[in-house]
Amino acid sequence: MTDLELTAHGGSFRANVSVPGDKSLSHRAVIFASIAEGDSLIEGLGPGADVASTVGAAQRLGVDVEIVGSETRVRSPGRHAWVSPSDPIDCGNSGTTMRLFAGLLATTPTSARLVGDASLSRRPMKRLVAPLSALGGKIATSDGTAPLTVGGVRNASGASVWVDVASAQVRSAFELGALSASGTSTIDSPAGFRDHTERWLSAIGLGEWTSHTAFEVRPGLVPPARYQIPGDPSSAAYLWTCAAIDPGSHVTTPSVSLNPGRLGFLEILARMGATVDAEVTGSTGGDPVGDVSVSGAHLRAIDVEGDLVASSLDELPLVAVLGAFAEGVTTVRDAGELRTKESDRIASTVAMIRALAGGAEEHADGFDVVGTGFLEGGVVETRHDHRIAMSAAVAATRSTGTVKIVDADVASVSWPGFYRALEGLWS
Ligand code: S3P
Repeated sequence: MTDLELTAHGGSFRANVSVPGDKSLSHRAVIFASIAEGDSLIEGLGPGADVASTVGAAQRLGVDVEIVGSETRVRSPGRHAWVSPSDPIDCGNSGTTMRLFAGLLATTPTSARLVGDASLSRRPMKRLVAPLSALGGKIATSDGTAPLTVGGVRNASGASVWVDVASAQVRSAFELGALSASGTSTIDSPAGFRDHTERWLSAIGLGEWTSHTAFEVRPGLVPPARYQIPGDPSSAAYLWTCAAIDPGSHVTTPSVSLNPGRLGFLEILARMGATVDAEVTGSTGGDPVGDVSVSGAHLRAIDVEGDLVASSLDELPLVAVLGAFAEGVTTVRDAGELRTKESDRIASTVAMIRALAGGAEEHADGFDVVGTGFLEGGVVETRHDHRIAMSAAVAATRSTGTVKIVDADVASVSWPGFYRALEGLWS
């Protein structure tokens, strides 16, 4: 555990920063490459501990993964030949690793026990049980949480399910499980989720949209492939916020994922008054990629609710930081899901703003932040949550006093070089 003390730089910056490979797409690239029989190549895999948990899980199933510089070479015997590990698979802090592997394995003859750290072991896993059981998959939780025991099934069948949460992790778990069923399957849910898995399945002909939110999966073989991972917009969001809270600053982040389910925070920045420019320059597996620029402004408070919440969920601690520097009271509602993240992110976000002498109030499904135009500094407890650590560091760039971040190295869950990149904005 390393604590870090940060003080404001003073002065504006203009910067162009390439952020690390997208975490959601990195998990999926390793998983798709592990399902396929043969050799796949991933360029630009995300460097965080969460993605390393997915690589570790694949290796435990008998997949060979070699990382050489920016290239990750995956050689898999194919999903049908995975081995059942005798010891548990450790998913670390990564909810995506645990939920996607639960789906992947639940409908296969391979069986495994999935465990996680203290934070992951508190997160809800019961939401996987009904959709995976509908496929004839096997999943046992420990009172609705990890450890999970999954798999050992030879006769999974197609199913149609509705899930009442806009969770890409739950949808993806079902879709990956449905790939080894005997018939077609459909999943539907509320809108706002990141649809990376659906886009990649469509691109290889194994699925299609049947409505705006309903997706049909056809069982079939995933071919080995080359994957180019774009930058992570959820990481870039820390740099966008640094620019947004200073009227003289400007940052460009080239080639980040512009999946519609990831764009909520850009909409929030624009509605609060920052200048936002996002230009699609290409795609990866039918998933848009592009350059994003953000210039700062005198911000105004807004209300964040409805579908916008799902597409900005990981960035909501940053909305609290923006709110503290804006004019008026910023409110976030319909965000009860925040309580199921690496920490109870409603409580930890409000505690962060208060620790820095700002005004914030907790609600059952969100929070209010009073825009004072400044934060003073103080001691922020990260509660083992990378997004709280990094949001506090962003607040520190414009706080009047020193910000101490307790257990600051938890940022390495998604971005090991984060504090250096932040410092680099002014160099
Ligand atoms: C993720 C989906 C989101 C997000 C998480 C990554 C993914 O979770 O918060 O950081 O890669 O599928 P939910 O879809 O469960 O809300």
